[in-house]
Amino acid sequence: MDASLLAILTEANSAMSQASDPAALENIKAQFLGKQGKVTELLKGMAALSPEEKKTRGAEINQLKQQVEAVLNARREALADAALQVKLQAQAIDVTKPGRSRGVGGLHPAMRTLERIEEIFTSIGFDLADGPEIETDFHNFTALNTPENHPARSMHDTFYVEGGNLLRTHTSPMQVRYMQTSKPPIRIIAPGRVYRVDSDATHSPMFHQVEGLWIDEGVSFADLKAVFIDFLKTFFETDDLTIRFRPSFFPFTEPSAEIDMAFTSGPNKGKWLEIAGSGQVHPNVLRHVGIDPEKYTGFAFGVGPDRLTMLRYGINDLRLFYENDIRFLQQFN
Ligand code: PHE
Repeated sequence: MDASLLAILTEANSAMSQASDPAALENIKAQFLGKQGKVTELLKGMAALSPEEKKTRGAEINQLKQQVEAVLNARREALADAALQVKLQAQAIDVTKPGRSRGVGGLHPAMRTLERIEEIFTSIGFDLADGPEIETDFHNFTALNTPENHPARSMHDTFYVEGGNLLRTHTSPMQVRYMQTSKPPIRIIAPGRVYRVDSDATHSPMFHQVEGLWIDEGVSFADLKAVFIDFLKTFFETDDLTIRFRPSFFPFTEPSAEIDMAFTSGPNKGKWLEIAGSGQVHPNVLRHVGIDPEKYTGFAFGVGPDRLTMLRYGINDLRLFYENDIRFLQQFN
């Protein structure tokens, strides 16, 4: 190669090595190898040469062209490599960093309590019963010794639905449904949602109850007290409870009692909270379902698991259970 060709090679080499990205490199390529590029012009300039000269000159220019192409390809590779390094760097994962933790879900406190209650009662031989949330007037009231126009109906502010049915105001209709299809001895609990037109710190329009029912020969009020107090001791995991049975009235039990328990923690410490209604099942209720009240007696209770949860955790507002504030719920995980 003569000096002028070497000069072009040197020039191409320095220009290409300074190109900082692929687009700039392609522009420089055009300056040498493009239609009007310096190497291409050299080839055009051969037209005037003799065949002998063309041979040697042509070989030299081709050599130059190949070397410029080699420089170009090397630079292309170097630029691609650099781009890849930048990309890898940007996407680098530091495997020594601690992982992102995933929040683990938990049971809602209301469900947790329901499960505990079910566990305790099934462990002493109670079966689980179930029933519909949309009830007939008969199951919710009449069969429970509360005929139409009975003043006790106003104890429950009822949501009525189309067709004369209602949202059950308590779990007691499940007593009726169970006794309609089973003969004594009967030992069941029946948990579920109930509805009343009611809302404040200790009342919510939808809340939970667990109905309990034990019917057999010779089942007395003393059995109610024993079973219920034992249940509470197991539930709260202590014998040191402040409980009272307060005489009360329900149309479907006689005698009847409401069961109160005192808060032992939280802002309501020392205050009483009603946790259940209870009593000896009224003979009229047994007659309604074809059980002979002369032969069989028993007790029933309806306990509020949400109230038990409040006592267990020292929570003073029932509405917290239904707002689904994650900061509240997370405390129970
Ligand atoms: N069903 C009553 C209520 O919701 C509670 C209760 C149940 C009372 C069983 C006595 C017997 O108020």
